[in-house]
Amino acid sequence: MSDTVYVLNGPNLNLLGLREPEIYGSTTLDEIAGMLEDKAREHGFTIDMRQTNHEGMLVDWLHEAQAEGARAVLLNAAAYTHTSIAILDAIKAIKTPVIEVHLSDPKTREEFRHLSYVGMVAAKTVEGHGAQSYTMALDAVASDEV
Ligand code: DQA
Repeated sequence: MSDTVYVLNGPNLNLLGLREPEIYGSTTLDEIAGMLEDKAREHGFTIDMRQTNHEGMLVDWLHEAQAEGARAVLLNAAAYTHTSIAILDAIKAIKTPVIEVHLSDPKTREEFRHLSYVGMVAAKTVEGHGAQSYTMALDAVASDEV
């Protein structure tokens, strides 16, 4: 197993900082990557951070995480969280632990966000802490919670 932690981000997260800042905050995805790099150095991890607007790409990257022996995956599948059985199946298909991450707390928002296919199979969920949700998820990997 390697010390690399994949951080996979789904649709519209490339617009973080500009996109509905009252819900998602004003921190950009690049800034979150920087926060994770700092935290990763403390823990001796390497971060591989990616974003895509395409569902199948997330499936491919989950497979790749396992093939490359990643330590864990932090996954913010964004809207695909609530729709994608393909991503649920991909998480089930790999042994690499996957932590579900959200900036907001979808369970306190619109009804259609209450269902999480990712949460059904993720090893853990961290949500509702803004950008800190990502660093808290990395701390959980470091403390061997997953
Ligand atoms: C999100 C929550 C999802 O419901 C939404 O579709 C997103 C972002 C979050 O990080 O809070 O795009 O995953």
